Amino acid sequence: MARYSIHKLREWKAKGQRFAMITAYDYPFARLVEQAGVPIVLVGDSLGSVVLGYDSTVPVTMDDIVYHTRAVVRGTEKAIVVADLPFGSYQASPDDAMRNAVRLLQEAGATAVKLEGGSHVAPLVHRMVESGIPVMGHLGLTPQSVNQFGGHKVQGKTPAAAAKLLNDARSLEEAGAFAVVLETIPAPLAKMVTERISIPTIGIGAGPDCDGQVQVLHDMLGIYDDRRVLRHAKVYANIGGTVRDAVREYVAEVEGREFPTTEHSFEMDESTLNELSGV
Ligand code: KIV
Repeated sequence: MARYSIHKLREWKAKGQRFAMITAYDYPFARLVEQAGVPIVLVGDSLGSVVLGYDSTVPVTMDDIVYHTRAVVRGTEKAIVVADLPFGSYQASPDDAMRNAVRLLQEAGATAVKLEGGSHVAPLVHRMVESGIPVMGHLGLTPQSVNQFGGHKVQGKTPAAAAKLLNDARSLEEAGAFAVVLETIPAPLAKMVTERISIPTIGIGAGPDCDGQVQVLHDMLGIYDDRRVLRHAKVYANIGGTVRDAVREYVAEVEGREFPTTEHSFEMDESTLNELSGV
């Protein structure tokens, strides 16, 4: 079965057809999100915070992304799989960046790569696209720069910052990016960017007028029910609580000798048992 082409996104934008992207980092969840109808799966470097236990995306490595992308590719048949270029994998040199992007397509099986930044990464985006690597951009609150921003703050709020973001989006479009994520920016600015560029915008904390939306799976599933959920995340389930309750019940049944029962056990012939009586 062929995967969706990245060109579908422009088709959807032209038709005004909204689309959902979601993160996944392993085989079972990749299967589930595709079965739920998600056409684009992002192996985001949010992996660091929601799966690997780091407090930011900064420590995530190329090997981490390659490992998790391979599992997501195995778990999907039709979805476009976008893999994040992690912090440090494209900043040091364009040649390094190219090698790492190629690795995500060749070794991990991703359809496309995503990287953060505007005009300053546009020449790199252009080189990747010219070499056959589909690139998704990422503007606004770019988590790899969280130390630079000094926290999770709404971006593009001043006239200068909003104009810069608009120009960055245009630079990515001109460089050949096939879509751009807009993270944590005012909704009216996201609407303006969406109307002024021809490539689809995918919002997270960017209001309802982007062409598509993206959410971090573990936030929307309520896996961490004891951690602060950012305002842009909508919690659709309480999987954390469900898992904890199920495991608690298992622990109680083992301790109470209620599990396993004969239903979960295997029998042995009486005659075989008798033969063992003298051993
Ligand atoms: O890493 C990630 O999950 C992302 C999304 C928040 C867009 O980049």
